Amino acid sequence: MESEVRTKVKKFYGSIAKKVGASKSGCCGSSCGCGSISEASLIYDGENLQGLPEEALQASLGCANPLMFAKLREGETVLDLGSGGGINVLMAAKHVGSSGKVYGLDMTDEMLQLANQNKQKMGVTNVEFLKGYIEDIPLPDNSIEVIMSNCVINLSDDKEKALSEAFRVLKSGGRLAIADIITMKDIPQRVRSTAEMWSSCLGGTIKASEYKEILEKVGFQDIEIEPVHIYTRSVIEETFLKNRLFAGMIKKSYLDALDGAFAGAYIKAHK
Ligand SMILES: C[S@@+](CC[C@H](N)C(=O)[O-])C[C@H]1O[C@@H](n2cnc3c(N)ncnc32)[C@H](O)[C@@H]1O
Repeated sequence: MESEVRTKVKKFYGSIAKKVGASKSGCCGSSCGCGSISEASLIYDGENLQGLPEEALQASLGCANPLMFAKLREGETVLDLGSGGGINVLMAAKHVGSSGKVYGLDMTDEMLQLANQNKQKMGVTNVEFLKGYIEDIPLPDNSIEVIMSNCVINLSDDKEKALSEAFRVLKSGGRLAIADIITMKDIPQRVRSTAEMWSSCLGGTIKASEYKEILEKVGFQDIEIEPVHIYTRSVIEETFLKNRLFAGMIKKSYLDALDGAFAGAYIKAHK
């Protein structure tokens, strides 16, 4: 049976995909109050965003840019865990070219539908979106050169399973390039444990030391975890409280406890 966390996360991201799909082009950017966890233009450079459909940008829900350190090369086979509306997959497709391939994996039907529409709009042929769970990746052992992910592992209630699956499908020498939110300081459990906190990518976060422990346990080496964007009070106000997609998810009364408690981080490792 599906866990409560998973059901809620699916419902939440399904509703976001529908909102983006329903918005008419040009009226879902931050200026209209739709936005994303971090607006696409803040975390990705213009060159990477070139040629991507507007709806892929509007559905950007990442916390940092995994392409900055994935160092993708022509011809590589890449898997994006929790691909959402497809923004990272479509950018990666340009880097690996027609001799490479990029898979996007997501559990939410509405997100997959949006991602496939974006793929069609962009006209790329080296991309495939798969339905499934990051804790049970529907790909063979040793089949992928690079695993990327952007703000997804924190949503899993079985991070060890998700990361061990990532290890299984990576080829020997393959690399992990994950952008994710990590915990920087302790926050009260009553603040952390609401479903809204989990769905908004904060409640399920772990500390860098716990992340490293899990990565080591499942077999990864050369592990580096680097916090790059600290979520100060003002960042949380801008990205969560003033944002139509996340409105009402985080209580204002939590702000003191949340100030500086989380950061967007680059997580790198090799198999
Ligand atoms: C915060 S969004 C990030 C989307 C995308 N990576 C981006 O940067 O815009 C999280 C995505 O992960 C998917 N997701 C969450 N948990 C998942 C799981 N256990 N297995 C597969 N997909 C999952 C959700 O459906 C959603 O599309």
